[in-house]
Amino acid sequence: MSATNHDAFWMPFTANRQFRRTPRMLVAADGMYYTADDGRRVLDGCAGLWCVNAGHNRPRITEAVQKTIATLDFAPTFQMGHPLGFAAADRIAALAPGDLNHVFFCNSGSEAADTALKIAIAYHRVRGDAARTRLIGRERGYHGVGFGGISVGGISGNRKLYGGLLTGVDHLPHTHDLARNAFSKGLPEHGAELADTLERIVALHDPSTIAAVMVEPMAGSTGVLPPPVGYLRRLREICDKYGILLIFDEVITGFGRLGGPAFAAEKFGVIPDIMTCAKGVTNGTIPMGAAIVREHVHAAFMDGPESGIELPHGYTYSGHPVACAAAIATLDTYAEENLFARADDLAPYFEEAAHALRGLPHVVDIRNVGLVAGIELEPRPGAPGARAYETFDRAFRKGVLVRYTGDVIAVSPPLIIEKAQIDQLFGTIADIVRTLD
Ligand SMILES: Cc1ncc(COP(=O)(O)O)c(C=O)c1O
Repeated sequence: MSATNHDAFWMPFTANRQFRRTPRMLVAADGMYYTADDGRRVLDGCAGLWCVNAGHNRPRITEAVQKTIATLDFAPTFQMGHPLGFAAADRIAALAPGDLNHVFFCNSGSEAADTALKIAIAYHRVRGDAARTRLIGRERGYHGVGFGGISVGGISGNRKLYGGLLTGVDHLPHTHDLARNAFSKGLPEHGAELADTLERIVALHDPSTIAAVMVEPMAGSTGVLPPPVGYLRRLREICDKYGILLIFDEVITGFGRLGGPAFAAEKFGVIPDIMTCAKGVTNGTIPMGAAIVREHVHAAFMDGPESGIELPHGYTYSGHPVACAAAIATLDTYAEENLFARADDLAPYFEEAAHALRGLPHVVDIRNVGLVAGIELEPRPGAPGARAYETFDRAFRKGVLVRYTGDVIAVSPPLIIEKAQIDQLFGTIADIVRTLD
């Protein structure tokens, strides 16, 4: 049977019928470029899906994957171990700030989010604080697509089809404030006080019922919302005041995306109790995610009888040897090429290139931090999202891959991007936006 009608693959987060009419197909990737099925080179303006931070087809990673799959194709990690698992955990822990030293492996950002939420609730329970079960997320938050993630997340389109979700969840307001912060460069000046809403939520539910607050340090999938200056610190202070765990979802922000340190937590000087990562941990090559916890969180579980399983949680592929090999080789590649510092060095040029689109028709905001930018378009009356979709589709036809969400075009290239490619990326978007209805 021919596969060309593209009917069997029910594609994720895709307008499947529209896609089948006008497919966009990638067949190869190398460095900064994809190759489309008609042979065109397509500049990767979004690191695949925010994950290919070192660019495509990196020899060290490919070799590590090939070698491992031929040596140890699979090994269980339930009551069994393999050296690559411990080595990968050590490497990730070494990169994570503060005493975020213990790594629980899973296979995706969604699993990392649900793992983090489960650890948070269980943490209070093993300490005898069993009433602390409430989870606080944020409007417009994205924590993947598990039930925990969509419940704590705040994107209504991802929630509304799926019933009642988790109970005992509340949400902080989002931090998007066009009126005060439009066209901010880097962190927006206004909005730290929005963190104080946590005080009201705590007063409403009583602190004794709240397990954790989970946010992305920079909301990515909802359309690039860098945190207002001082906002994360304020959240940390309120969590500390009431014994609430703070979880940062660093699935997008990890591994140099924001420039400088590996993680946003370190960049912004706010250390959460639990941090999730995925995507860039293997440069997108092999699925992997992790929840990384601080000493006090881990220690709380290490108290009972030694023969007891401390956390009844895990996935068949937690710490898969091939993923661990890919992670180690990825972290080696980042370090050898100093890619996080490179992102930091390029960030001012990238910022200027992004903000050069200010003044174009329909552009109502441009936001950026590190090597991430969001360009927000005014919705076309009666057709929200159409302008951003058209930009995305036409950019692909012109040889540039970007992301879009709602009416925001998101740009997050591999950290190996060159200045001329930054020009091409934003130049292509500008040319298209100029001609949009
Ligand atoms: C902040 C955040 N958390 C979780 C996820 C989900 O990751 P995955 O798609 O690997 O499940 C994403 C994906 O974009 C994300 O941006």
